[in-house]
Order: sequence, then structure tokens, then C-alpha cells
Amino acid sequence: MSKVTVVGAGNVGATCANVLAHKDLVKEVVLLDIVGDTARGKALDTWQQAPIDYYSTRLMGTDDYADTANSDIVVITAGIPRKPGMSRDDLIATNAKIVQSVTKSIMEYSPNPIIIIVSNPLDVMTYAAHTASGLDRSRVFGMAGILDTARYRAFLSTALDVSPKDIQALLLGGHGDTMVPLPRYTTVAGIPVTELIDAESLDAIVERTKKGGGELVKLMGTSAWYAPGAAAAQMVEAIVRDEKRIFPCCTLLNGEYDQKEVYLGVPVKLGANGIEQLLEIDLNEDEQELMNTSSKHVKAVMDVYDGMK
Ligand code: NAI
Ligand code: 2OP
Repeated sequence: MSKVTVVGAGNVGATCANVLAHKDLVKEVVLLDIVGDTARGKALDTWQQAPIDYYSTRLMGTDDYADTANSDIVVITAGIPRKPGMSRDDLIATNAKIVQSVTKSIMEYSPNPIIIIVSNPLDVMTYAAHTASGLDRSRVFGMAGILDTARYRAFLSTALDVSPKDIQALLLGGHGDTMVPLPRYTTVAGIPVTELIDAESLDAIVERTKKGGGELVKLMGTSAWYAPGAAAAQMVEAIVRDEKRIFPCCTLLNGEYDQKEVYLGVPVKLGANGIEQLLEIDLNEDEQELMNTSSKHVKAVMDVYDGMK
């Protein structure tokens, strides 16, 4: 694989392109934005960082989809972020049109890309891009679970005073306050986290994780970008290097986890063909109930999207 396009050269897109360049994974990263000069400027700035940080990946900024031709992977971050007081779902009216039109333009120039969605509301924007692309579900999926588990792992790392490297965690469901962190599937160097932290502190961390995006919006007046950009780049890396990594990603569920025709985060194996396997783990009654609630919430926003068509 030699070419990655990132659509949207705002906070998340530019960060993703910059992290990708530092990983030195591909020959070329194209950064496309409706505001062409912003994309051109940020691509040039990142290219001028190459002699300092030693990478060879070329960067190009553009507003012309012809420059994205034959992309192997496309990351879509185009759209508006939320402001304080807004939920991710409030973005649907603006972002659905943007994600649909971006996906169609990408498909005109790249016959069989793998598309990673970042724009919010994430689960429903994955639906919009998947249907607009006509691609198999293994090739169009969303980034949220890596970010949400990273937040959960970072909070645990602080609470336990251990390296975040040693914390493994799993999280299911939609990218919203109904997301389902799974303490039962969280370990610290193989030790169940429940043996290292009291239930009350763990509950507080789970609750903080669910509202982790909102915490940053309150602090900054817009949503986060460093961890989101890096999370999307980590998905690209798993695909380019055919790593077969297991990450929670948003995908269409067709009966898995008892959910049908809904886009939700679940653990998947990412490799050169995109989603190569969807892993189904056992859920207890409480966990299944939380998954059902999250699913209902995402379905309601999918209905809003269907009503817009
Ligand atoms: P931003 O406002 O910094 O950047 C968005 C960029 O999209 C702007 O440069 C804008 O010009 C561009 N854009 C708008 N319409 C376009 C179009 N039709 N074609 C090409 N480019 C277009 O916003 P930021 O912070 O980068 O966030 C981007 C999106 O990602 C938001 O919807 C945000 O909610 C979402 N997000 C999702 C996360 C996740 O975990 N899935 C995490 C963080 C952000
Ligand atoms: C986040 O969780 C806004 O979805 C974005 O930071």
C-alpha cells in the first residue's frame, strides 16, 4: 500500500496526517479540505518537519479529488466538531451531507479503498459512508473504540500509577455516553483490573470515560484532536502493515451481539483487507443490557439520518 488520503485538514485530520508521516508507513499522504490552502499549508508544514524528524512520506495538500486517485486507505474527518453544550448527535444535519458527498467523491477516483470514518456522530456517519460507498462492511468502518479505550486506560494508569502500556481494555457500543466499557475484560499486565482497584473508583473511571469527549469540549471549546488523530493513524498502520491487530471499531452488525442492522463498536481484527474478523465475546446479562441500550440510542440517530434522505 502506498497512498493514504485524509479528508478534512482541521484539528483531527491534520494531526492524523502528521502522525502518519512520522510512522513512515506509505509513500504519500494526501490531505484534502474544502479549504484548499489550509490543506496545502498543513501538508507543507508537515513535509518541512521531515528533515527534522527523519521520515520520507511525501505530503500533499489539495481541494481536488483527482489528487486522491487510487488511494489505498481514506480517513474521513471532514465536518464540524461540537461546541460546549452540544452532543455528538447534534452534528448530524451538517455532517451527514458532508460525509455522503465526500464518500461519493472519493469513490469516483479510488475503485476499492478502505475507508475509516472519524466524523461525528460516528456510528451514524459510518452508516452514511458505508451506504454511499457501496463497499463491503469489511472496508468501511469507524474510529471511536481506540480513542475511548485509550481514555479509559489513561485514567486507570493515573489511578493505579502504572504505565499505560500495561493496561489492556475492551469497550463496546456506540461512540456516545451509552458506550460500554468492560471492566471484566480489563487487565493490567494480565492481572484482572478488579483485583487492583476498588469497585467505587473503577465505576468513577468508567463514568468519566463515557463522558471523556465532553470533558475535553468543556476545557477547549471544541473537541479533542491529538488522541483522535493518533487513533485513526493506528488503524491505518494496522492495515498497511497487515498487523492483524484487535481493536474496537464501529462496524455494521448483522446479528452479532444480538444486534441487527445497526452500526456499533465491537472488537475486530484489522489487517490488509480491512476488518478480517469480527470477534464475539461472551457478555453477562448486565453487559448485554448496556449493549442493547447503546444500540437503541444509535438506531434512533440512524432513523433521524434515514428521515433526512
Ligand atoms: P475541524 O473543524 O478542526 O476540522 C474539520 C475540517 O473539515 C475543516 O478543516 C473543514 O474545512 C473540513 N470540511 C468541512 N466540510 C468539508 C467537505 N465537504 N470536504 C472536505 N473538508 C471539509 O474539526 P475536527 O476537530 O478536526 O473534527 C472533525 C470531525 O471529527 C468532527 O465531526 C468531530 O466531531 C469528529 N471527531 C470524532 C472523533 C471520534 O472519536 N470519532 C474524535 C474527535 C473528533
Ligand atoms: C471525542 O470523543 C468529539 O467524538 C469526539 O472527543
